[in-house]
Amino acid sequence: MSESVDHTQEHATLTLPSGQVVELPVVEGTEKERAVDIAGLRQKTGYITLDDGYTNTGSCESKITFIDGEKGILRYRGYPIQEIAKRCSFIETAQLVIWGELPTPEERSYFSDILTENSALPEDFRRHFAGFPVHAHPMSILSAMINALQSYDLPNMIIDSDEEFQRVAATLISKVRTIAAAAYKSSIGEPIMYPRYDLRYVENFLHMMFSRPYRDYVPSAEATAALNLFLLLHADHEQNCSTSTVRMVASGQANLYASVAAGVCALWGPLHGGANQAVMEMLTLIRDSGMTAQDYLARVKDRSTGIRLMGFGHRVYRSFDPRALLLKDACDKLLNSMNIVDPRLDIARELEEVALADDYFASRKLYPNVDFYSGIILTALGIPTEMFTVVFAIGRMPGWIAHWKEIHDNPASRIYRPRQIYVGSPEREWVNRFQRDKGNTTQGFIIPEELRAKLSS
Ligand code: CMC
Repeated sequence: MSESVDHTQEHATLTLPSGQVVELPVVEGTEKERAVDIAGLRQKTGYITLDDGYTNTGSCESKITFIDGEKGILRYRGYPIQEIAKRCSFIETAQLVIWGELPTPEERSYFSDILTENSALPEDFRRHFAGFPVHAHPMSILSAMINALQSYDLPNMIIDSDEEFQRVAATLISKVRTIAAAAYKSSIGEPIMYPRYDLRYVENFLHMMFSRPYRDYVPSAEATAALNLFLLLHADHEQNCSTSTVRMVASGQANLYASVAAGVCALWGPLHGGANQAVMEMLTLIRDSGMTAQDYLARVKDRSTGIRLMGFGHRVYRSFDPRALLLKDACDKLLNSMNIVDPRLDIARELEEVALADDYFASRKLYPNVDFYSGIILTALGIPTEMFTVVFAIGRMPGWIAHWKEIHDNPASRIYRPRQIYVGSPEREWVNRFQRDKGNTTQGFIIPEELRAKLSS
C-alpha cells in the first residue's frame, strides 16, 4: 500500500478456522470510506479473499473521482458534478479530470490549440476505414483505429515527459472524435469530413458527423449544449468495468493507446456502455409493439425471460444516479427547443414512474442510471443508435487517460494480477488419444452429425 492512504491506528481482527488470529490494518480515504488492508494476508496465512465481481474490493487508490452511491454523490477532483455540469465545457472537464485542477484561461486556450493541431487523421490512415465491411459496428472500428493510431503517432511507445504526455492526451481526445465521425461517414457511404480549425470541440464533432462537402451543418446552441453535457457527465466514473480494464492493461506498462483501446472494448457490452443503445432498442420495441409500460415491466419481473429494464440499476448507486437527473432535465429542454415529439420519451417517463413505485425495483434499489435518458438526447441530435456507445467512449476518454496517468506516474505501481479459487478437476491420469471414450464427448464442442462418421473412420 502506498503512503497516500491514511493508515488509522485501528486493526480488524480475522480468526481463521485453524484458530490463527490475524490483525489487518484499517485504512481511511479522504471521505472517510474505510477498508481493511489485506495485502499481507496470503503471506501471513496462505489465505486469499474471494469477491466474485469485485463487489467489495478496492482495487487501487485514486484521486480522480469520488462517488457515494448511497447518497447519489459524484465529484470529479472534489467538484460536485452539478457544478461542473452548470459551469464547464467538456474540454475544461477533461483538463480537470486528467491534471487535477480547473485550467487557467491560458491553459484552457493552449489545450484548445493542441487539440486543434492534433485533430486531423494522417492522410494514409484514412484508407483503413475502407478495410471494414459496410455495417461494421463503429465500436469495432473505433477500438481497432485507436490501436492503429499508436503506430502512426507514438511508434516508440514511450511517453517520457510531461510535454509528450500532454501531446498524446490531446491527440487521443481530439482524434477519437475524428475517428468516430469517420467511422459513421464510412458506414453510410459518405465522404469523410476534415475537422475545422475554427470550431470548438463539440461543434467540430457535429460538423464531421453531419456536414457534407457541399453543405455545412450548423448545430443549434441547444444541441451543442446537450452534447457538451452528455460528454462531461461521462468523463469519469471511477473503477467501472472499462476503466478497471484500462488500469489493468496499463499496469503491465502497455502504452496509452493500447490501454484505452482495451477500454473501448470493455465499454461495448450492454451491461456497461452498450446500455444506452440497449435502452433505445427497448423503448423502440415498446413503441412499435404497442405494449404498455406495465406489460414490459411484467416481463422484466418474470425472471424466466432474462429481460432487464435497461438503463436501470447500478453497482454503486443505491439511490438516484445524479447524471440521470441532469440528463432527464436536459432531455426535456432539448426536445422542447427542437419541437421534437418523441413518444419514446413518454414511454421512458412512464417506465420510470411505474418501476419506481414497484416493490421489485424499490426493494433492489434499482433507479434510472446515466443511460436511461441519454439515448433520447442522442437520437434528437441525429446520432444513430449504433453510434451511442462510441459517443460514450469519446466522453470517457479523459477518465481513461487520467487513470492510465495515475498508474504511469506512480513509481510504486505493480502489475495487476488477481488470484482465483480453482474449482476445476483435480489432477487426472493422462488418456491416450485412441482410448478416449467416443460416447463421452467434450461438453459444448459440436461436431455436425453428418461429419461425425467421416471423422471417426
Ligand atoms: N432490471 C431488472 N432487474 C435488475 C436490473 C435491471 N436493470 N438490474 C439489477 N436487477 C436485479 C437483478 O436481477 C438482481 O436481482 P436478484 O437479487 O433477485 O437476483 C438484483 O437486481 C441485483 O442485480 P445484479 O445483477 O447483482 O447487480 P449488479 O450490481 O451486478 O449489476 C448492472 C449492475 C448495472 C449491470 C445491472 O443493474 C444491470 O444489468 N442494469 C441494466 C443494464 C444497464 O443499464 N447498464 C448501465 C449501467 S450504468 C453505465 C455504465 O456503468 O456503463
